[in-house]
Formats: sequence, structure tokens, C-alpha cells
Amino acid sequence: MPAKVDLYDNAYANYGAEVYRDIRIETYGQDLGQTSWVTTEESSAIPQMLHVDAGSSVLEVGCGSGGYALHLAKNVGCSIVGVDVNAPGVANANQLASANGLANRASFEQCDASKGLPFNDEIFDAVFANDVLCHIPQRPDVLREMFRVLKPGGRMLFSDALVVGGMISHEEINTRSSIGYYVYSPPGENERLSEQAGFREVRASDTTENAASIAKKWHQAREKRREELVALEGKSNFEGLQAFLSCVHSLTAERRLLRYLYVADKGH
Ligand SMILES: C[S@@+](CC[C@H](N)C(=O)[O-])C[C@H]1O[C@@H](n2cnc3c(N)ncnc32)[C@H](O)[C@@H]1O
Repeated sequence: MPAKVDLYDNAYANYGAEVYRDIRIETYGQDLGQTSWVTTEESSAIPQMLHVDAGSSVLEVGCGSGGYALHLAKNVGCSIVGVDVNAPGVANANQLASANGLANRASFEQCDASKGLPFNDEIFDAVFANDVLCHIPQRPDVLREMFRVLKPGGRMLFSDALVVGGMISHEEINTRSSIGYYVYSPPGENERLSEQAGFREVRASDTTENAASIAKKWHQAREKRREELVALEGKSNFEGLQAFLSCVHSLTAERRLLRYLYVADKGH
């Protein structure tokens, strides 16, 4: 079993470091603080998919560095709350909100979403979680919580890059899981669980190819900056993260792991 590899603490604590910013730009094309498989095209389409506008109140579950939530607050003009279990991520997000004059409509709280969402019923127009639910035990409960905090007529969106599409060895599962807790799901399960939570009209789109491309670009961008990253992360973590990214690339390029994006309605 490979040693545990850190992705999120380094990425969020070193958010402002030039080397991490350059890697994000080279990987995604635009720096939105990403640590996921979302392409910039998908990031741009999310407000429309969620029917979010300047009057909307939005919740992001697993907001990471806060970069994307702040991008929405600034460019769409919505109010947004982000939650994440990672303390450096939440600290970075609140600091960026203040520094960018967005603290009046963007705020961030540390929260373990497996223990419920600390919000009243029916207060958000939209709720989303980008490549997060795979990390959280009790997905049925998390989806029920997302349903509960949505207003009637609200929309939710989440992505899952761990839908099993083919044969995977135990070594591959170990490497793919080396950065934290993970739940793998069979095709169709996310749709079934979303409906079970109360959501209607669950639409799934296959974004596997994009995830394979992001994993490859991310690996290459880090490899080019090996020395600087080894100094920041340590050699064993650097190598572990490279092995993780390379594993994500081969599993998704061969469609043995699939990434889907789900959008669903709460209904009135
Ligand atoms: C793949 S990253 C995605 C971050 C961000 N959404 C993005 O697109 O870049 C997954 C995030 O889920 C967060 N996370 C993991 N387990 C969590 C939990 N139990 N509750 C809340 N957030 C969690 C991690 O800290 C991390 O920031």
C-alpha cells in the first residue's frame, strides 16, 4: 500500500505561490484555484446549468481554495457560501474574499459534510459539489442534505470521477486512493441515490475524456517544475502525487474509471 500522499494541504497552503499558480494556468488555462478534473469550459457552463444569476444564493460543498466560488461572486454577482473540511482551504478562501472586496457576498466555513450541512432548510437557490462527494462517506445522507437546504425549484449539480467503468487492479485502486478517503460507485448509482434523496430530472453527462486530459496536463506541468515542488512538498510526496496523477490519466483514458457530471431539480 503506498504511503498517504497529500494533495489538498499543499495546494491550499501554497495557493499564492507562483509555482502552484503557473501549474493551475498550464493545466486548466485559467486560474480558478482548481484541484479537480473540471475544465475551464465546464467551470464557465456551471452558472447556466444551475440557473444562477446575480440574485441567487448559492452553496458550494467542498469549495477547496475558494477560487471558483469567488469567481462566481465576482462575475455572476451571486451570494455564495462555501464549505470544506480542509482548514487551509477555508482560511485561504476567507482571506481572498476580504482581499478582493467580496466578503459581503462570499463566505467560507470549515465543515465536514458527512456530518450534515450547518444551514436551515430551503435557503439556497443552487447547491453544487465539484469532485467532492467521492471523498465523503454516506453519500445518500449528503444528497439528502443538499436537497434539504435547497429552495423549492432549486437546482443541484455534482461531479463524480470515480464511477467504475472496467477492470481495476488492487495496486491501481491503492494509488488512485492514496490522497484520501474515496468511495467508488457503479454506473447508475448516483442517479439512483439522487432520486432517492428527492431530486427529479437527473441528467448525467460523461466528462471522462476531459478528466483524462486534465490529469495529463497537471502531471506534465508538475514534472516541469520538479525541483521547486520537491523543495515545497518533499520528494516522497512529489513522487506520490505524480504516481496518483499518472494513475488517474491511465484509468480515465482507458475508460476503466469514468467521470460524470449530474444536474437535477428539486421541483416545487
Ligand atoms: C477534488 S477537491 C475539489 C475542490 C474544488 N471543488 C475544485 O473543484 O477544485 C475535493 C475537495 O473536497 C474536500 N472534502 C473532502 N472531504 C470532505 C468532507 N467530508 N466535507 C467537506 N469537504 C470535503 C477536500 O478538502 C477538497 O477541497
